[in-house]
Amino acid sequence: MCGIVGYIGNKKAGPILINGLLRLEYRGYDSAGISTIEKDKISIMKDKGRVKNLYNLPGINDLEGTIGIAHTRWATHGKPSKENAHPHMDNSKTFSVVHNGIIENYHELREFLSSNGYKFYSDTDTEIIPNLVHYYYSKDENNDEFKFLRAFKNACSRLLGSFAIEILCKDYPNNMIVVRKDSPLVIGKSDGENYLSSDIPAILSFTRNFYLLNDYEYAVLSRDNVKFYDKDLNEINKKTETIEWNASSAEKDGYQDFMLKEIYEQPTAIRETIGSKLNEKLECSFEELDFTKDYLKGLNKIYFIACGTAMHAGLAGKNMMEKLCKIPTEVDIASEFRYRNPLVDDKTLCIFISQSGETADTIAALKLAKSNGAKTIVITNVIGSSITREADYSIYTHAGPEIAVASTKAYTSQVVLISLLCVYFADVLGMDNPNVTNLKEEILMLPKKLEETLKDTKKIKDFAKKVYQEQDIFFLGRGIDETTAREASLKLKEISYIHSESYAAGELKHGAIALIENGVTVVGIMTDPNLVDKMVSNLQEVITRGAKTLIITNQDIDEKRFDVVINVPKTSPFISPILAIVPLQLFAYYISKEKGLDVDKPRNLAKSVTVE
Ligand code: AGP
Ligand code: GLU
Repeated sequence: MCGIVGYIGNKKAGPILINGLLRLEYRGYDSAGISTIEKDKISIMKDKGRVKNLYNLPGINDLEGTIGIAHTRWATHGKPSKENAHPHMDNSKTFSVVHNGIIENYHELREFLSSNGYKFYSDTDTEIIPNLVHYYYSKDENNDEFKFLRAFKNACSRLLGSFAIEILCKDYPNNMIVVRKDSPLVIGKSDGENYLSSDIPAILSFTRNFYLLNDYEYAVLSRDNVKFYDKDLNEINKKTETIEWNASSAEKDGYQDFMLKEIYEQPTAIRETIGSKLNEKLECSFEELDFTKDYLKGLNKIYFIACGTAMHAGLAGKNMMEKLCKIPTEVDIASEFRYRNPLVDDKTLCIFISQSGETADTIAALKLAKSNGAKTIVITNVIGSSITREADYSIYTHAGPEIAVASTKAYTSQVVLISLLCVYFADVLGMDNPNVTNLKEEILMLPKKLEETLKDTKKIKDFAKKVYQEQDIFFLGRGIDETTAREASLKLKEISYIHSESYAAGELKHGAIALIENGVTVVGIMTDPNLVDKMVSNLQEVITRGAKTLIITNQDIDEKRFDVVINVPKTSPFISPILAIVPLQLFAYYISKEKGLDVDKPRNLAKSVTVE
């Protein structure tokens, strides 16, 4: 949600900042702005709407400054408008600030500042920050090199909530300072110049060396240097981390949209996820984990906790964990888990799933689980993301950057990593189960089978063309296929804006079947050999009531009974969602294209949801 960019170097900052914001557009936003230091004064250019609107602002091409900060806003306090767009300045125009997050105690701080004569020109919580910094700055009589940093730190130590903040000061034209708490921010180091961004892909074309900040750490950037300080302003040392992703992984590479590219990247992404965790001898290992048989045997429960698509990956995990490891497993939505006093103690293992590693609800749920004594694992795609700094163990999907808001390769790689985790636990527990061996063999075959699934997409494209004007689409499945139905339904909603629902097929007749009428589209997923007959009967019930049917299956069925049947390769039923979801990702994609919508940046959604 929202994005932050910063630059200090020898080039003009304006174009670099706008270019960086364009790369962060996918995160979702409603207004944009930049601030640079021009000779001895701070300049601010901002507007409501798209980043490209900035190009129309008078004077934007005349900016000469080589230091600057930039922001795309996703409004939390005050409507999207030019006045509320960032950057914000203090009354004396000494400081400019961009902020991602929410200042929870801003009312109290605004009153404090008002009673000290400060005036406010926006409805944002952010505007208190530059003014609070000015308050401390004007009181400090010591004019040394740390005065700017001291004032900023004094202000930040009064802020409650979540924030990533960049600040400029006209009296320190060769420095920019940043801090973060529960909001993403990375620092890219290059030769004679340094970059800031909310995420790595936006600045990957400039550098692959990054510094990661922990909560309440301050970084003071100059052209040749970055200095770090802890919350009490003691200097600390940090080393850069080198990111393996190459710059082209954050480009469209000839595809029309990132989503399509990411759907087609799934075979490669899954190869990377498997990596060396499972070898040809079917030995499974997780260097990151040190769980003993006694620990796993002593568990009273495993939780998978996540939001949205990542939560659907957890649903696939529940089935595997219970069946293969015989450990009771629950799946919870992070925003519910954190407020319902869950039964969690030191005999509970909580596994969090988050592509971005920045989802506020998932991070908060993890902190709660930890405080109750549980061990915590995070499954994420982003190295060094906020959640990895909180979890006891971090394991990575290595799917490469996912830019499209609708998650595709991150989802399938999460299910793969969870399946590896399940077989690893089964091995540690000494489970003697032929299903484990079969699952291992099938995991290794997944990249090839995904390639096969992606070979012929004509049928699904044609069906999408037929139904793209529908008002409602239903998805049905039983057992593990219900997980796929849920994920397919979410994907369709997100990018096509068609109302869709998913049901456990046997549940339909208890209510929702009232919605089935002549011409309605129903998608049925059938990959579980034990449930295929039941599914066929449930589908017959909707066909009788006039439904058009699209079937995704790897079973031998009487295809004539349905309108369109898409066959996917057979695999272990535990991981069938990885293959069955692919045609349905494409279904959502082609419908969205047919409707002429922005596939990669659907309305109202953000790639990483950093607020509650
Ligand atoms: C997926 O298509 C969605 N955009 C959304 O449900 C997403 O999965 C959810 O917000 C969780 O994000 P995370 O994996 O980054 O935590
Ligand atoms: N809370 C701030 C505002 O509403 C920042 C929002 C954001 O993260 O973009 O302006």
